[in-house]
Amino acid sequence: MRAITILPGVAQSVRLDEIEEPAETDGGILVCTRALGICGTDHDILSGLYGSAPRGQERLILGHESFGVVEDAPPGNGFRRGDHVVGIVRRPDPVPCPACGSGEWDMCRNGLYTERGIKERHGFGAERFRIEPEFAVKAEPSLGLAAVLTEPASVVAKAWEHVFRIGRRSPSWAPGNVLVTGAGPIGLLAALIGAQHGLAVHVLDRHTRGPKPELVRDLGGVYHDSTISLGDAQFDVVMECTAASAAIAEALSRSAPSGIVCLVGVSAAGRKDEFDIGGFNRKLVLGNGAVFGTVNANRRHYEDAARALAKANRGWLDGLMSRRVPLSRWQDAFTPQPDDIKVVIDFMG
Ligand code: BGC
Repeated sequence: MRAITILPGVAQSVRLDEIEEPAETDGGILVCTRALGICGTDHDILSGLYGSAPRGQERLILGHESFGVVEDAPPGNGFRRGDHVVGIVRRPDPVPCPACGSGEWDMCRNGLYTERGIKERHGFGAERFRIEPEFAVKAEPSLGLAAVLTEPASVVAKAWEHVFRIGRRSPSWAPGNVLVTGAGPIGLLAALIGAQHGLAVHVLDRHTRGPKPELVRDLGGVYHDSTISLGDAQFDVVMECTAASAAIAEALSRSAPSGIVCLVGVSAAGRKDEFDIGGFNRKLVLGNGAVFGTVNANRRHYEDAARALAKANRGWLDGLMSRRVPLSRWQDAFTPQPDDIKVVIDFMG
């Protein structure tokens, strides 16, 4: 079968390989891949900056945003041939740490977790993959290809869950608005879930044209292509989804009293930008502010994500998947285009 593989640590080593069928040790459920989403992490892996192959192997099968249809499942494990499924990315560390030991592998404390398509485990970017039932999540068949958005939506569902948990430190706190910085797939999915929670949604992104402004307006949100239209607005929740220094500084400055700033993007280390630490500390302390980071998702968040996508407008989700590339032209998927939001490799196309 065909698979997209990479030599971790080596830039431009990605290729379409002919490989063996998936190993039975990957899990009892055999899935026929329908779609694979591409994200910033994949681009970092492609550039040789991130990712590692399974122990004793050289190449890594890429891909962690999956969607496929069950081809074969042993009886009695809750899955049947024809089920639409998405694979969970992270596996608990073997120690396990207290978090991994209780199903909260997204909060792993010793860093020994593995991740499919990213860290020491083959990904889902092959024509078929295998998965354990406890790491497979059913998707609503009516979602079609949009089920591939479940993984990025799970990251955002976790971010929102934690915002509300932190918010409960003050029982009277009821957020009215959210500012999302960055209208990429993560930012737009954060905006979608914010709108589903009934918050007034504002999205800040530098694009003045293309599909992003309309996607935000379709959620009933307000799109800002610069900070000018934001005026001096402050927000109960700020979701920073760009990982860019200037946007992070902006996000930190926009938090209302008792506000919560959630950092979702992963920046590169080493850039030293000027930042008023005293001013930031003063605002945070005097305003009871909270800033936290979040990564990955556990099973509960995938299930929340599946529900959020099932409730969303199907046309809107299709708009988010701005470019679909058939497997035969897989290289195009890794060449960014100006209007890209979520690029998806269509394994059936
Ligand atoms: C994935 C997460 C993963 C993180 C760090 C993200 O792109 O969505 O599942 O934990 O990268 O490897």
